[in-house]
Amino acid sequence: MTPTNYLTKACLSAALLLGLVMGELESALALTAAQFNHGLGTGINLGNALDAPREGEWGVTLEANYFRQIHQAGFTHLRLPVRWSSHAGQPAPYKLDPVFTERVRWAVHGALKNNLKVVLNMHHYEEFESDPDAHRERLLAMWRQISEEFKNEPRDQVAFEIYNEPAKKISAVFWNDLFAEALAVVRKKNPKRIVVVGPVQWNSISALDTLKLPSDKNLLVSVHYYEPFHFTHQGAEWVGEEGKNWLGTTWSASAEQIAALKSDFDKAQKWAQTHERLIYLGEFGAYSKGDMDSRARWTESVRKAAIDRGFSLAYWEFCSGFGAYDPASRSWRKPLLNALHAHFMLDHAKRPGN
Ligand code: BGC
Repeated sequence: MTPTNYLTKACLSAALLLGLVMGELESALALTAAQFNHGLGTGINLGNALDAPREGEWGVTLEANYFRQIHQAGFTHLRLPVRWSSHAGQPAPYKLDPVFTERVRWAVHGALKNNLKVVLNMHHYEEFESDPDAHRERLLAMWRQISEEFKNEPRDQVAFEIYNEPAKKISAVFWNDLFAEALAVVRKKNPKRIVVVGPVQWNSISALDTLKLPSDKNLLVSVHYYEPFHFTHQGAEWVGEEGKNWLGTTWSASAEQIAALKSDFDKAQKWAQTHERLIYLGEFGAYSKGDMDSRARWTESVRKAAIDRGFSLAYWEFCSGFGAYDPASRSWRKPLLNALHAHFMLDHAKRPGN
């Protein structure tokens, strides 16, 4: 072997060794889905803002101080619902409106600057829910753009959620297939980012068995919880006239009610254990037409059921109809905040130096 050959071989071996060490180091340092889920902790949905047809139309226009308030109240993440479909072209290539995209980026950065992790989703693509086949390509094209636009956001702090509450005409078979395709689109620019996915029927626990996922380790499985629906949605305008008949429904945390709650959450936990997945309770909340004592009791019980099983969670929502925060008085609704156990951080935040 000539000295040059020897040197080349030695360099190659050293590079190989370094590569192996780096690879191992990278995988040792790589944040697992379990660590990410743990870090999400207790969050809140910034609902009815960027998921309205136009921001402000549903009464919520985001303010920079909201992110600080949410952090100071002790929440550790923000779920950011976004109606991308109102801000993308109709004919291919379905270009996203750059002004709106910047507004979303501003919100993501507002959260990150305030130590809040982010779950960035796609919400209320109503045309897709009524005619999934006709809107499949547009949804994928939007994700192609979103995943490019947000690819540089820190992987340990920002997750994507492909679609909120697939329902109506979206069957389980269609959803499983579309999700796998959308994930492949996202993976091109975000190979390891955490992606959130939930089952059909509005992400209900009872539909978990229909969910078939690709063998990708960086997924979190989301469920939403609004049971008993007649209690949480009493008087909710969007459920129709029927909702008025439920007004006055209370929730006393009776043994029977707690047993029903535990049994629902046990189902989710069992599914997660069987499928080796992690659960993110991405929405739960009780509408403002119910009495506050019942709402606070329910919120605390649901929170406890989630925490006891190691689920991360996000209350629905910040300052609208379910709001834990009252935008008029610019203060938290204490019974709800206490139920979410975030109040101790609020007291802490008031101390000098914070
Ligand atoms: C919907 C909201 C609704 C909430 C409770 C969410 O997923 O996006 O519009 O208020 O569920 O029904």
